[in-house]
Amino acid sequence: MSLQDIFGLSGKVALITGGGSGLGRAMAEAVAEAGATPVCFDRDAAGLAETAAAMHARGLPCETMTGDITDEAAVDAAVAEIDRRFGRLDILFNNAGIGDPVPTLMHDCLTENWRKVVDINMNGVFYFARAALRIMVRQGSGKIINAASMWGLAGSSSVFPMPGYTATKGAVVNLTRELALQYAEKNIQVNAICPGFFVTKLGPYDENEFVEVTTNFTPMKRLAQPSEMKGTALYLASSASSFVTGACIVIDGGCMAK
Ligand SMILES: NC(=O)c1ccc[n+]([C@@H]2O[C@H](COP(=O)([O-])OP(=O)(O)OC[C@H]3O[C@@H](n4cnc5c(N)ncnc54)[C@H](O)[C@@H]3O)[C@@H](O)[C@H]2O)c1
Repeated sequence: MSLQDIFGLSGKVALITGGGSGLGRAMAEAVAEAGATPVCFDRDAAGLAETAAAMHARGLPCETMTGDITDEAAVDAAVAEIDRRFGRLDILFNNAGIGDPVPTLMHDCLTENWRKVVDINMNGVFYFARAALRIMVRQGSGKIINAASMWGLAGSSSVFPMPGYTATKGAVVNLTRELALQYAEKNIQVNAICPGFFVTKLGPYDENEFVEVTTNFTPMKRLAQPSEMKGTALYLASSASSFVTGACIVIDGGCMAK
C-alpha cells in the first residue's frame, strides 16, 4: 500500500467539536488536506467562520455547525443532519473542552465551576460519542479520537491546580479504553490524544508568567503550536492506525517522561 492509501481520507466525513479554534482547527485542516470533508461544530460562531474562511481560502472544504456540546438535543440534531447530508460519519474528533474557570485547590472549588467542566469535558464527549457510534456501528467502521490531556495521566498541581480538568481528562482517558473494547470487533477504533502545552485560547498564553512557567516545566523548553497536532490527528483518523485502539498518544515535549 502506498502512503496515499495509508493516510488518505478521500470520501470520508469527519466531525470536529471545538473546530472554531486551536487544536480543533488544526485537526480539521489535517483531515481536509488528506481528502476528507470536515464538519466543525463549535459554540463560537465567529471562530467557526475564521476556520472556514482560512480553509476555503486554501481551496479546502470546511462545513460548520454552531451549537453547544452540552446540549444533548443539539448534539443529536447535528449528527442526524450529517447523516442526512452525507449518509456517513467516518471520524469524530471529540475535541471541545475547557479548563477549570479558576485554578483552585479543591477546598475552594465552586460547585458551579466543577459542574461546568464536567458538563463540557465529560457529558459533551458522551453525547457526541454516542450519537456518532450509532452511525459507525451501522456502517461497520469508524474512528473516534478523544482529546484528553497530559493532565488526564497525572495531577496538574506541579504547575497549577485544576481539580475539574484533571478529573474529567482522566475520565476521558479511561472512557477511551472502555469504548475501544466495546467496539473493537466492530471495526471502530477509539483512541485518545494527551497534549501538553499548545498555544491556543485554552490557557492565558498571552501572559508572560504563564508562558514562562509552562515552558520551564516542558523538557523541550518550548511550547507547541497547534500545527504540531496535525500529524497525530491524521495518524489516528486514517488507516495508518488501523490496528491501534484504546491508546493514548502523549504529545507533550517530554512532560510525562519526568
Ligand atoms: N492547548 C493545550 O495546551 C491543550 C493541552 C491538553 C489538552 N487540550 C485539549 O484540547 C482540546 C482543544 O483545546 P484547545 O487548546 O484547542 O482550546 P481552545 O480554547 O483554543 O479551543 C476549544 C474550542 O472548543 C469550543 N468549546 C468549548 N466549550 C464548548 C461547548 N460547550 N460547546 C461547543 N464548543 C465548545 C470553544 O469555543 C473553542 O473554539 C480541549 O479538550 C483541551 O482540553 C489542550
